[in-house]
Amino acid sequence: MYRKTRREKHKITGVTIFLLSAALLFCMAGCGRKEDASDEAESTLSQDNPPEHIVTIGFSQIGSESDWRMASTKSVQEAFAAHEGFELIYNDGQQKQENQIKAIREFIDQDVDYILLDPCVETGWDSALLEAKEAGIPVIVYDREVVVSDNSLYTAWIGSDFYLEGKKACTWLREYLQAIGYYGDVNIVDIQGTFGASAQIGRSRALDEAVSENSRWHLIGQETGDFTTSKGREVMEEMLIQHGGNINVVYCENDNEAYGAIEAITKAGYKIGSDFAAHEMLILSFDSTSEGLRLTKEGKIAVNTECSPLYGPRLVRMIEQMEAGEKPEFRTYIEEEQFSAFTGIGSLRIDGDSYFVTRVTDELLDEREY
Ligand code: AHR
Repeated sequence: MYRKTRREKHKITGVTIFLLSAALLFCMAGCGRKEDASDEAESTLSQDNPPEHIVTIGFSQIGSESDWRMASTKSVQEAFAAHEGFELIYNDGQQKQENQIKAIREFIDQDVDYILLDPCVETGWDSALLEAKEAGIPVIVYDREVVVSDNSLYTAWIGSDFYLEGKKACTWLREYLQAIGYYGDVNIVDIQGTFGASAQIGRSRALDEAVSENSRWHLIGQETGDFTTSKGREVMEEMLIQHGGNINVVYCENDNEAYGAIEAITKAGYKIGSDFAAHEMLILSFDSTSEGLRLTKEGKIAVNTECSPLYGPRLVRMIEQMEAGEKPEFRTYIEEEQFSAFTGIGSLRIDGDSYFVTRVTDELLDEREY
């Protein structure tokens, strides 16, 4: 199929704008309508600043499985809507890679200028990204990562260091147990994210490693909760049937799973806390959404490691940069925080770097954007 090059697309858009402007001027003169001051101002404005080229961006989102995801969609949609030269075409992948691949192909057929991809899983993107590359459409991957045979298949990636997030959570747990003077066995269950997603891979790996480094830590259950509240609840119910009050720590790989786990634990008659002798269970979570932080402030979530969904302005800047002919950074990690109501740990030391642990206050909750 013949495809227009970027340059041809710009030329065609310019010709179209010229013809439309000429038709508008002709109509205004020919119709003899009396112009008032505001009409004049408007037409001058549109002649002086016609949008040279509307940049179209196909946005393939994973779905709406979590509060984080919905905040991320909103951030991207709002940031692009506020930019008058950009038009975003949104596609909801409904948690399925095949839908996201289909969306990429549709964007190629629509001849968009850019594709934004938040990939549900890391592998399986080579063919679709090759097709985009051959069509001359730059693909920006964000949040989760893609693992492809050739890195030139995408233009840039911006996202979280999910492994570091997991290390922060596990390091906090180790420090916390020391701070409360607990040196006994620790039975941990892991409610994982969607299998194959970078957020799951990094967070699970950090926990697996921490367990192998701490001889008293035992990973007694590990199952996917798909990053959703309902699956998180369901998995926690199963784990409680299997292990009952022998569970000490529940490592939830996102806030929605933590909401579900807290419901299941409470419903089963157990308490959240660190009195392990009384069968209390400690919850660790990721994302730090408003609701997640509210539960952290209440002490229901012991530590919440942030994963920011606010990508909209960052992605707009990246495309502006590319429109200006600049090359964006190929890989960018965003900075993230960690929150707890426990004030005994002010910061953590990981691989020679320090990370602050912020206390959750009402002020922080009021200001939280997602
Ligand atoms: O990829 C980011 C993860 O995906 C977030 O932790 C989670 O909430 C989301 O669904």
